[in-house]
Amino acid sequence: MSFVDIQGLRKSFGPVVALDGIDLMVERGSRTVVVGPSGCGKTTLLRLIAGFEAPDAGRILIGGDTMAEGMAAMPAYKRNIGIVAQDGCLFPHLTVAGNIVFGMTDEPPVKRARAEKLMEMVGLERSMLGRRPDELSGGQQQRVALARALARKPRLMLLDEPFSALDTGLRAQTRKTIGDVLRQEGIATLLVTHDQAEALTFADQLAVMRGGRLVQSGRPRDVYSHPVDPATASFLGEAIILPAKVADGYAECVLGRLPLSEPGMSARQGTIMLRPEQITIAGEDGEGVVRGRVVETSFCGSTCDMRITLRGDESVVFNIEVPSSTDVIAGQEIALRISGSVHVFG
Ligand SMILES: Nc1ncnc2c1ncn2[C@@H]1O[C@H](COP(=O)(O)OP(=O)(O)OP(=O)(O)O)[C@@H](O)[C@H]1O
Ligand SMILES: [Mg+2]
Repeated sequence: MSFVDIQGLRKSFGPVVALDGIDLMVERGSRTVVVGPSGCGKTTLLRLIAGFEAPDAGRILIGGDTMAEGMAAMPAYKRNIGIVAQDGCLFPHLTVAGNIVFGMTDEPPVKRARAEKLMEMVGLERSMLGRRPDELSGGQQQRVALARALARKPRLMLLDEPFSALDTGLRAQTRKTIGDVLRQEGIATLLVTHDQAEALTFADQLAVMRGGRLVQSGRPRDVYSHPVDPATASFLGEAIILPAKVADGYAECVLGRLPLSEPGMSARQGTIMLRPEQITIAGEDGEGVVRGRVVETSFCGSTCDMRITLRGDESVVFNIEVPSSTDVIAGQEIALRISGSVHVFG
């Protein structure tokens, strides 16, 4: 049995259906990332798991114990679940130490020792224990929020876009620290994020939501390469989506005859997807090479984004990323080589 087992979870707010029958399993000690467009129900899902709201229908089990069954729900404080929200929500009038040990009933020296240990775990100096939240940077505040959530030794950690207020470098660093701590402690984690790269890096299991439903879940690599539909494909990164004639393990499309990633498919007219990293600029024309034209280039530092259209079918436009040293300018005709296989939507 899975550590977290969510079955048929439903929740409406008046006429708004926030969760429309969610089934999700989370394995012990693993990391699940929930992604989806704004308003699809991600925060509602976490709030129901935490016990801040009761479902209208469905079940939530953690470690075999029923947390909620229909509208009967165990109160949040009995669930032993840690939660860190987007803005950390530290108590502004308490020190860092006060925040971390808030609610702990142990003797002061025990609390102090625990706070010091947690500061070390989240990579913060002990000397900050006496500061107030407004005397810390955004990244430091998020680490304190995590330390506070860890203080009660939760069996499950819920993270609702905890890194979104941080700039790119700090975000990656804070994510790594927090991820490492949770891994070391063996705490199962559910992370909500808007950041596709973050989702793909952090997750053991990726869960894609849309309109209150879970449209797909699986290993990040599988969901990225075999998305259930074009919307999921595009949500996880740039996708090139084309009509194609599918037969005998190949797709015939404007990019030529490309092998299918699922070869046993019956012949049909279908829609295929490939990722831009499968397309490279070829030195010269040859077998399997198609001609394109560079519409636009934009410099991004180490790489350059190139907007490309196909010669012969200008309705096909896609972006590829090339090293910025690539000597190609807008308007130029180029040869393109396609590698790997293509995915067919079911
Ligand atoms: N307390 C509430 N009262 C009324 N409607 C609510 C309430 N909480 C959430 N909703 C609605 O439920 C839907 C799902 O909201 P939710 O906060 O779960 O979305 P989300 O996926 O977390 O979005 P975001 O990415 O913007 O944070 C939205 O349409 C939202 O307006
Ligand atoms: Mg939200």
